[in-house]
Amino acid sequence: MAADQTTTETAVDDLTEQAAADELERLAKELSHHDELYHAKDAPEISDADYDALKKRNAAIEERYPQLIRADSPSIKVGAAPLPTFAQITHSRPMLSLDNAFADDDVRDFVNSVYRFLGQLPDGSIAFTAEPKIDGLSMSIRYENGILVNAATRGDGTTGENVTANIKTIKEIPNKLPKGVPSVVEVRGEVYMGKSDFLALNAEMEAKGKQLYVNPRNTAAGSLRQLDAKVTASRKLKFFAYAWGEMSEPNDLPSTQYEMVQTFKDWGFPVNPLMKRLNSLEDILGHYREIGLERPELDYDIDGVVYKVDRLDLQARLGFRSRSPRWATAHKFPAEQAFTTVENIDIQVGRTGALTPVARLTPITVGGVVVTNATLHNEDYIKGIGNSGERIREDDHDIRIGDTVIVQRAGDVIPQVLDVVMEKRPADAKAYEFPKKCPVCGSHAVREKNEKTGKLDSVTRCTGGFVCRAQATEHLKHFVSRNAYDIEGLGAKQVDFFFEAEDPALQIRTAPDIFTLKKRQETSQLLKLENIDGFGRVSVRKLFDAIDERRSIALNRFIYALGIRHVGETTAKLLARHYGTYEAFAEAMNDAASLSGDAWADLNNIEGIGEIVARAIVEFFKEPRNLDVVTRLLTEVTPQAAEQIAASNSPVAGKTVVFTGSLERFTRDEAKARAEGLGAKVAGSVSKKTDYVVAGPGAGSKLDKARELGVEVMTEDEWLTFIGG
Ligand code: IVH
Repeated sequence: MAADQTTTETAVDDLTEQAAADELERLAKELSHHDELYHAKDAPEISDADYDALKKRNAAIEERYPQLIRADSPSIKVGAAPLPTFAQITHSRPMLSLDNAFADDDVRDFVNSVYRFLGQLPDGSIAFTAEPKIDGLSMSIRYENGILVNAATRGDGTTGENVTANIKTIKEIPNKLPKGVPSVVEVRGEVYMGKSDFLALNAEMEAKGKQLYVNPRNTAAGSLRQLDAKVTASRKLKFFAYAWGEMSEPNDLPSTQYEMVQTFKDWGFPVNPLMKRLNSLEDILGHYREIGLERPELDYDIDGVVYKVDRLDLQARLGFRSRSPRWATAHKFPAEQAFTTVENIDIQVGRTGALTPVARLTPITVGGVVVTNATLHNEDYIKGIGNSGERIREDDHDIRIGDTVIVQRAGDVIPQVLDVVMEKRPADAKAYEFPKKCPVCGSHAVREKNEKTGKLDSVTRCTGGFVCRAQATEHLKHFVSRNAYDIEGLGAKQVDFFFEAEDPALQIRTAPDIFTLKKRQETSQLLKLENIDGFGRVSVRKLFDAIDERRSIALNRFIYALGIRHVGETTAKLLARHYGTYEAFAEAMNDAASLSGDAWADLNNIEGIGEIVARAIVEFFKEPRNLDVVTRLLTEVTPQAAEQIAASNSPVAGKTVVFTGSLERFTRDEAKARAEGLGAKVAGSVSKKTDYVVAGPGAGSKLDKARELGVEVMTEDEWLTFIGG
């Protein structure tokens, strides 16, 4: 449909203002309709390429006539809002995700890391379960006194949607459990649609002349998120139980993963018949290959095999990283690939000035999804050189405009260009010349030298800093983005508009300007925002309200919004939790400026923060321009103190502990993870701020220092008694 339009439509440059306005209105409606189909109904009507074509046309018209940008412009909206009608449920235990393994070596690393963490040699004594990774939707189903009381989707892992009525229509899921089960039972698993049921449903749709569904997973998701549970009931959804959340009386339950799942079977849940309990790496990988061979015959989609440590006491000792358990991993099946051509190579300039080349591809379907772009990462990647200088393509193939390439898509990751089909390279194809200047601001673009290794960094960066429009606007866009300040009505398009504004009463160049906009508007004799096309009185009031609402913000969001290099959401959370308040964080970063001393050691000791990240944070706080922006920002907004770690009834919560000497009761990693799990901070060096030093045999200078400073010293056994065994 959209493809036809592109052939008959008027060139953007030839559109009159009126025709442009009409078309923008039509595109807003049409794109909103497709967003709704895609996000809320899981039933797209057009291909991704056609959707992109519509969006591109919309953007081109907006660029030609910026005064016509609509408040509901599709370039501003991010997908469709979630259905407002399902209530939220907070999971009693978070629903985590799994780390991925792709190659056999990754699985070996996983197995070895389990042994290492537990302080054992990899002697095959630890059993693992291996079972298919079902490509459906994960679900947590709660029973109280044997009765199904609620069911929730995974959502963001902390809260999900209450889909109890819909889940009750799934015949395979018992509404009642047998007598004698614990009073609280939360069974977790995957809701999916069988391949044969999916095909039958599509045959029915075709017979009725209706739009076909894309794949079983989307259809299952769509079938479940129906306000009318009768629709769900008609869809033949199925379920496999493989995990659990809260369980009362856990001591009466089995002590292994394998037996727990068998117990679920006894309680009436479907469990996957291909689960096996295995010890050696060879057996585990053998089972992976067997499942891979059976994959086409199975009546449900799977995308890998999940391995879990079998013994639950070992699972408990291994514990969790921020988002995934240490005791499990998902071994994915190889990604899907296809051939297409590189039509062009564009350069995008990011928030940190990185110049990222992007291949514009002739649209192609890879594993059921239309791919039009692929990242080319950096200059070296185009030349066929990897991050450590290694050759990444056969015979040193580089990538050129006009080349036929193999594109790979794996899961949700950005598509990659794997290789070039040299036989099809056009005779006149020239090697791509990476720009020496920033395509946006014209500043020099350079590859920095890594101080440690002396090697050239793979990333080319624009040296324009705050002068570069792309960097400055990308910074602002990051600042207002969904997981940062999330200001409604202030999206990418508006950021561009306010950034470009000439009038000082309208201009937003740095984050604090967002919060002074209202005041500047109120006192301005000049242009009023509400008189500008695309704003209007109501939307201006809403925008100011949305801005005011964010004057108080969670510390982790505040830190994330600062846009410090390498500091994503997870790191921001770690920092917020560790330092508690912005003042404590900023003071510590100031103390760490010399990249030495206690504050520096303390930062590096936070589990999940490595040296590169630590350096980037400290460097951020050394740049006067950053400090100026933050200082101005803090006169407008107040970051809220972060909640201290939950297990605060432990005597070690909030205390700083140093482990030294050789530990005999647990490995250092395990000691650290357990202490942190109880809310303690684990540091690498002893200082005035240290509360306890746990010293094993052979402890030396740290023990001396502790004695000198009068810090309490314990043996490993004393520590164990202190933390409760
Ligand atoms: S175990 C704490 N087992 O994969 C770990 N997950 O990438 C709990 N999934 O959100 C998950 N099949 O939706 C587990 N046999 C299986 C699975 C499985 C599919 C999904 C699940 C999870 C996602 C993680």
